[in-house]
Amino acid sequence: MKKSVLVADTSKINLEILEEILDPFYQVIACSDPQEIEKQAKLHKPDLILIEIHLGEVSGYEVNRVLKSDSKTRAIPVIFITAADQPEIEEKALEEGAVDFLTKPLRPTLVLARIKTHLLLADRSHLLEEQVAEKTREVLETRLDIIQILGKAAEFKDNETGSHVHRIGLYSEALARGYGFEPENCGLIRHAAPMHDIGKIGIPDSVLLKPGKLNELEWQIMQTHTTIGKDILENQTSTLLQAARIIAYQHHEKWDGSGYPSKLKGDDIHIFARIVALVDVFDALSSKRPYKEPWPLEKTLQLIKAERGIQFDPHVTDIFFENLNEILNIQKMNEDIFV
Ligand SMILES: [Fe+2]
Ligand SMILES: [Fe+2]
Repeated sequence: MKKSVLVADTSKINLEILEEILDPFYQVIACSDPQEIEKQAKLHKPDLILIEIHLGEVSGYEVNRVLKSDSKTRAIPVIFITAADQPEIEEKALEEGAVDFLTKPLRPTLVLARIKTHLLLADRSHLLEEQVAEKTREVLETRLDIIQILGKAAEFKDNETGSHVHRIGLYSEALARGYGFEPENCGLIRHAAPMHDIGKIGIPDSVLLKPGKLNELEWQIMQTHTTIGKDILENQTSTLLQAARIIAYQHHEKWDGSGYPSKLKGDDIHIFARIVALVDVFDALSSKRPYKEPWPLEKTLQLIKAERGIQFDPHVTDIFFENLNEILNIQKMNEDIFV
């Protein structure tokens, strides 16, 4: 398929000359009205634009600035056409962001050679951009995978299943959406929430896996999984790990101030942690574990309702019930796999 070139000049004769030169090799879009150039560029998305600098009342520079300010046309290479022997204009043309300039009278071989070069360069730069975007995607995916794995590692140590942390991410995202979070923050909590119990890595098995009730000292040790989690995730610059740190630190705080480790109250608890606190309890109660059967749904919901405004943020609790169908759907689609 032929590449397309938009040529803009108020002189019909010049346009005809350019069309004659380019026509055998490119699909040419000729534009003699300076007010139409932007519209034509957006409509046809040409691979390259040739603009005469002197366009009557409007200058080619101004048109170029408009094209460069719009994301739809910004990347299209622009070549200016100038009158001969005007070095200062040529210099300005390049300063204005044109990739090149051509001087009149136009020599067909030179015009074609310049266009070919810049189309090749543009192709290469697109390819590079795609490769960079692909690599960035890969890095991001790897980072998210590692985060999921870390969350799973902590849960496995605690007799939980990997699906638990995955569900916690999805439930949290659903509530964040219901709460009116921006999509970016919904994604953030989804990926950060699975790390809520990362600190359990630092709890001795004798405490973590003790079958019976914990004594006072063991309970104190168990509670430190929040501060250990905070310490593990300390000094991280990525927003994702900072969110994970807040969640790991505060997910056992309670709305009425009776939680741990800091006895934070109400809005002093970060909203991410208020959301995770609720969905973590919901999932723990409604899932089967080696030491317990799942609670019936009705009983689990009753407990959550009863803890509205006590353990759980009342507004988050309301959002949970408003989105219960979605929550139950996530649960159904992400059941535990026991081997
Ligand atoms: Fe926890
Ligand atoms: Fe959990």
